[in-house]
Amino acid sequence: MNLAEPMGPVWRADASGSGTNPGCRVMAVGSALPAKRVTNSDLEQFLDTSDDWIASRTGIRERRVADPGETLLSLAARAATAALSAAGVEASEVDTIICSSSSPDDTFPSLACRLQAELGCPHGTAFDLQAACSGAIYGLALAQSLIQTGMSRHVLVVAAEIFSRLVDWSDRSTAVLFGDGAGAFLVGGPDSPGSQIVAVDLGADGRGAGALGTLELPIEHRVTPGGPEYTASPRSLGRVVTMNGREVFRFSTKILEQVVLRLADAVGVEPGQISTVVSHQANSRILETAAGRLKFPFERFMTNLDMIGNTSSASIPLALAEGAAAGDCVEGDLICLVAFGAGLTWGGLLLSWGSTAIGIDQGAVP
Ligand code: ACO
Repeated sequence: MNLAEPMGPVWRADASGSGTNPGCRVMAVGSALPAKRVTNSDLEQFLDTSDDWIASRTGIRERRVADPGETLLSLAARAATAALSAAGVEASEVDTIICSSSSPDDTFPSLACRLQAELGCPHGTAFDLQAACSGAIYGLALAQSLIQTGMSRHVLVVAAEIFSRLVDWSDRSTAVLFGDGAGAFLVGGPDSPGSQIVAVDLGADGRGAGALGTLELPIEHRVTPGGPEYTASPRSLGRVVTMNGREVFRFSTKILEQVVLRLADAVGVEPGQISTVVSHQANSRILETAAGRLKFPFERFMTNLDMIGNTSSASIPLALAEGAAAGDCVEGDLICLVAFGAGLTWGGLLLSWGSTAIGIDQGAVP
């Protein structure tokens, strides 16, 4: 089976930035993390693993973990508020909220509806989408379509994850990979300030659904013996992550390369003309392998997974917010966002960097 062959057309904005496909603007990016840091050495206390194994295989050194009192909604609200404040846009001006999460704290009502009430913007529509780690890019693509067709003016795309409640803390092959966090994009019309969305590529191949998913948590694994408090946090789903690591590695490296090539081709540039790639922060070996195949300098991949792990669909806005706040995005830069995840799903998007506002919620960071 030849999994994950991109097929559909790549959407692209009119080069003039006007006309019938002007390309919406990413007005702001927001991010929020839980305060608790869990290092690889902390994991060594209750898991048969080592800092050396985790760092060398994944690039991860520590991750953030939500306290029992934190919820997906509280993390999502912090990231959304950070984006709105940075852009100077009132919550009441948002007419669509799209949320992505693979670790929901409830099955329904949606996180988006609860976030709408929390933020105080009870107008328009709110819904969740499920595209696993590709959720933020799927959300941005939908935001682009909703605004271009006149159905929305301001769309808030929020990706929030608490994977610490979705991993089996006795399974060293998955527990070491993930972290918690939330990111948000505020998208406005072509006349808004911000970075222009110049191309979008989405795809899925359901034949690969078995490579990455969840299974019912065995009762004996509900609490990790000798584990810290977070390993016993209540799980709304009663299920845990399961993964065929090698299959995911093969798929991720291939699709990351393909999506970058397809997006570059759609706008008529060489991949090397892309200034920065902000990939889903799955693990550094995946990113390094794809960079090598693309002959793209790895230094131009924005990464922060060493300090926060794999935060699933939140990882792209979290990495972009941090990199842009550090001054790594300059007006006119071509920034490529690429995601891949369970489903299998993938998605990529090119941004022509403009005056996107950055809001980092430092609230709970010690
Ligand atoms: N600490 C110590 N040893 C470990 C750990 C750990 N945390 N996890 C697994 N091992 C052991 C295994 O038990 C195995 O031992 P054995 O040889 O005695 O059986 C050995 O290490 C090698 O295991 P492999 O699974 O073969 O390890 P591999 O070299 O393939 O690396 C990894 C595993 C890092 C997960 C790799 O397959 C990979 O990078 N896959 C990509 C998956 C990924 O990163 N997913 C992220 C989430 S999905 C997403 O975001 C889209």
